[in-house]
Amino acid sequence: MKALCWEGVNKLAVERVPDPRIQNAHDVIVKVRYTTSCGSDLHLLDGYIPAMEAGDVIGHEFMGEVVEVGPEVAKHQVGDRVVVVSFIGCGSCWYCDHDLWSLCDNTNTNPGITQALWGQDPGGIYGYSHAMGGFMGSHAEYVRVPFADHGAFGVPEEIDDLTALFASDGLPTGWMGADLGGVGPGDTVAVWGAGGVGQMAARAAMLLGAEQVHVIDRLPERLAMVETHIGAATIDYSATDVGAELRERTGGRGPDVCIEAVGQEAHTYGPEYIYDKVKQQLRLENDRPPAIREAVMACRKGGSVFALGVYAGLVDKFPLGALMNKGLTLRGAQQHGQRYVPMLLERLSRGEISTSHLATHVLSLDEGPRGYDLFKNKEDGCVRAVFRP
Ligand SMILES: NC(=O)c1ccc[n+]([C@@H]2O[C@H](COP(=O)([O-])OP(=O)(O)OC[C@H]3O[C@@H](n4cnc5c(N)ncnc54)[C@H](O)[C@@H]3O)[C@@H](O)[C@H]2O)c1
Ligand SMILES: [Zn+2]
Ligand SMILES: [Zn+2]
Repeated sequence: MKALCWEGVNKLAVERVPDPRIQNAHDVIVKVRYTTSCGSDLHLLDGYIPAMEAGDVIGHEFMGEVVEVGPEVAKHQVGDRVVVVSFIGCGSCWYCDHDLWSLCDNTNTNPGITQALWGQDPGGIYGYSHAMGGFMGSHAEYVRVPFADHGAFGVPEEIDDLTALFASDGLPTGWMGADLGGVGPGDTVAVWGAGGVGQMAARAAMLLGAEQVHVIDRLPERLAMVETHIGAATIDYSATDVGAELRERTGGRGPDVCIEAVGQEAHTYGPEYIYDKVKQQLRLENDRPPAIREAVMACRKGGSVFALGVYAGLVDKFPLGALMNKGLTLRGAQQHGQRYVPMLLERLSRGEISTSHLATHVLSLDEGPRGYDLFKNKEDGCVRAVFRP
């Protein structure tokens, strides 16, 4: 089959790879209808995620049709239209039992690297390096879905394919940031990053009852999208001091919940950016953290900060003093999609959340490298490059 493969830093190629086969009684094979690029893939492309090998198929967000079913699969049949959660959960370990699906103890088949990096290994994910299980990714014609009864969800008829696609990762990730960040009725929430993840976090915060939601970015087309499709307020950080603006909008107190949806390649202005960029390139720090620094500084005393943006290693100049003295709660997680997808599909059916506007560019798999160029450089208003294999 055809697939989009990682061939080195900033190098992608469309190649022929072997078709996936059922390997385990709980697997299904899905014929991909749509698969989208994600901010997390940019970290792979730019070389900040360890243990990629030339020829690895990338991509982790997808929906499609079940074409083959393992003998122990109970929930799915050939012909079902499904959306698949990007993280793979076994459904029977302590973590899956506690609804912490991305922390599954059984699905990272290559746990040594992340154990050395982080003390313990999280679960496996499609197309995201040999450190995270070495699973073939979804930018391909077919994908093997392990533990399909837990990771694949039937899509109700009234939800179209493109809308359903984002229930794979962007939407549940955003929802998790608002939910585990502790957003409740009446709260003021600030979200850094107006990409797919930040937009979904903002919408989730509104649906969880937040009174004010402010989304921070510098790209005008994304800020416009936040206003039109999400209904949140915006702050252009290229034109405003974000901390001062948030204080101004919150009677001097600061937001109750700050959600960081930017990650390890954040951009900023001035010496801070040059400092982090140089240190990152010399590998003296792995991640560039200006957005999460700003979130910690802007958060109200006693508030909470949630890291949705991906970080892989060490950061420098992290304001731990502010965290401690302001009594903040800091959390982060890879998405626990299995916990949220059934509820999110219901909300999508009712039209409470718009997702398909994120698919600004729908391309063939052959156009994969060009799609990633557009997405990486945010050219032509690209928010997500979506591929139709
Ligand atoms: N936790 C998870 O499970 C999970 C899942 C999916 C994605 N992610 C991560 O979430 C992050 C966002 O993903 P995405 O697909 O929306 O990516 P994206 O690249 O489309 O969006 C990132 C946005 O952040 C903005 N940005 C950069 N620096 C900023 C700053 N200092 N302040 C405010 N905004 C800034 C950019 O302009 C861009 O619009 C990535 O790090 C991605 O890896 C995490
Ligand atoms: Zn993703
Ligand atoms: Zn598990």
